[in-house]
Amino acid sequence: MNNSVKRAHNFNAGPAALPLAVLKKAQAELLDFNDTGMSIMEHSHRGNAYEIVHNRAIELLKELLSIPEGYEVLFLQGGASLQFSMVPMNFLPANKKAGYVMTGVWSEKAYAEAEKLGEVFVAATAKEGNYCQIPALKEINYDADTAYLHVTSNNTIYGTEWHAFPNTEAVPLIADMSSDILSCPIDVSKFALIYAGAQKNIGPSGVTVVIIRRDFLEQAKKNGPTMLQYATFAKNNSLYNTPPTFGIYMMKLVLEWMKAEGGLLGIYKRNQEKAALIYDTIDASNGFYKGHAQLSARSLMNVTFRLADENLEKKFLEQAKQAGFVGLNGHRLVGGCRASIYNAVPYDSCQALRDYMLAFQKENS
Ligand SMILES: Cc1ncc(COP(=O)(O)O)c(C=O)c1O
Repeated sequence: MNNSVKRAHNFNAGPAALPLAVLKKAQAELLDFNDTGMSIMEHSHRGNAYEIVHNRAIELLKELLSIPEGYEVLFLQGGASLQFSMVPMNFLPANKKAGYVMTGVWSEKAYAEAEKLGEVFVAATAKEGNYCQIPALKEINYDADTAYLHVTSNNTIYGTEWHAFPNTEAVPLIADMSSDILSCPIDVSKFALIYAGAQKNIGPSGVTVVIIRRDFLEQAKKNGPTMLQYATFAKNNSLYNTPPTFGIYMMKLVLEWMKAEGGLLGIYKRNQEKAALIYDTIDASNGFYKGHAQLSARSLMNVTFRLADENLEKKFLEQAKQAGFVGLNGHRLVGGCRASIYNAVPYDSCQALRDYMLAFQKENS
């Protein structure tokens, strides 16, 4: 195999970088999976070859995230965006209200979908200051009768992340972890439901991972369309209909890669080192680079920053592109620059970005 394959410094926000070792393994197995003379894409989802992959992916997720007994791991489609509707469809009864903590555009979208299906309220918001922070836990308002409290653990667009979660006691806590799942250890037992689109940290787009507590699942409304009930997936090991088999296969390879890289703790340590390379450069730049997120809310996954003015940002981004960096443009709502440094983005790419930022500052200050 050619080891000197050309690889971009990929800082895309999602779909995002995948580990080179995973891509190579998938390439090697693409035509003939496990000596079956067929690609995994050509196997029946009811056949033994695929079922082993499917079950191993579930097992690895349980192991890597230390998911306690009493939880189901489900594979759905429709992206995290469909979860914005499925959560209230299943868990927002007519006599209750659901609380949403607003920490960015994705929280707003989740809220907007839930509002179509039942009663919702803003439990706390960080909108002031263009979502540069996470509300203090003590500022989150809800009562014991709240149907559930919804949070977005990492705000992909603004580059902020929750570093502690509320103890909601009897109120079910639900988290959209699309852009930071498996980036650091979490206490799954705090959550009634976690969902995440796979395309940032877990694999290619097309799979949505749901982790749901069984006793919470039992409270779900039973009258929704079959494919929009979590129970359908739970009862059938996510094989009620044809799952996105290739995406789940890729996810399994990514999870195996994570395990070989030291599991969640190994990945977390490297993520901290990668993020430090870029945040330290911002902090030592005497204001040449300005981080969007407040220090206490900085994301380990999406580093957002601005330069003095839009012309300088344009020059920074153009030259970065020429130098082989991909995906550094900030989201249009925040502007500036964003480096998404998910699990599979190599340390070397972050080092290269740090070096480029230092050189650019030197030439332009
Ligand atoms: C935090 C968060 N939630 C939800 C979404 C939407 O995900 P999907 O495109 O899988 O529907 C994204 C996509 O970037 C996201 O970052």
